[in-house]
Amino acid sequence: MSFAGTELVIALPKGRMMAEAYETFARAGLELPRARGERDLWHRSGGLAVLELRGADVPTYVDLGIADLGVVGRDVLLEAGRDLYEPVDLGFGACRLSLIRRPGDETPIRRIASKYPRFTQSWLRSRGMVADVVKLHGSVELAALVGLADAVVDVVQTGNTLRAAGLIEVETLARSSARLVVNKSSLKLKRGVIRPLIDKLRNLVG
Ligand code: PRP
Repeated sequence: MSFAGTELVIALPKGRMMAEAYETFARAGLELPRARGERDLWHRSGGLAVLELRGADVPTYVDLGIADLGVVGRDVLLEAGRDLYEPVDLGFGACRLSLIRRPGDETPIRRIASKYPRFTQSWLRSRGMVADVVKLHGSVELAALVGLADAVVDVVQTGNTLRAAGLIEVETLARSSARLVVNKSSLKLKRGVIRPLIDKLRNLVG
């Protein structure tokens, strides 16, 4: 399968941000092809192709040039450490990466569980702290509850998950929202299509 002849290939994250990503492109005048069913991994029409990916995979597809551009949360970009052009803060999908602990726990942090191990390590280094970082893939709050780790670094959006688990947000480490990311070669090669799109998206959110 190849996207040869396709004007633009766009990577979108499945989940919470997908609907708003489609809506944002539509408001910018780009009606993206829609999935025909749940197992429809990619769709193409009118010179546009959309890849529906796990959020964490969007930076990889864009950096390696399979997709020309994509939408992804800043939290994911902070973890991915990829060299992407990030021209527009799209505004939706606001959340924060926070340090989370059991209430009243002020013991030194020796082990942190997170879906964001690289980000967590670099935050620890910036504080001159040393702790083990354990990579988990989901339900991270449980790690703090059952003592797998004595702190957790995770996404807080509404705060409902934290409240339900009876955990405390000790500190906000980074703020996040959806970002437009662009492959640097695509920006040069497809300048005539991508630049006007960036301008329209900037006007929308500006
Ligand atoms: C994320 C995150 C928190 C929750 C925070 O998990 O890991 O658990 O959302 O959102 P809230 O503040 O609105 O409750 P996600 O729903 O992506 O599922 P996961 O735990 O399986 O990764």
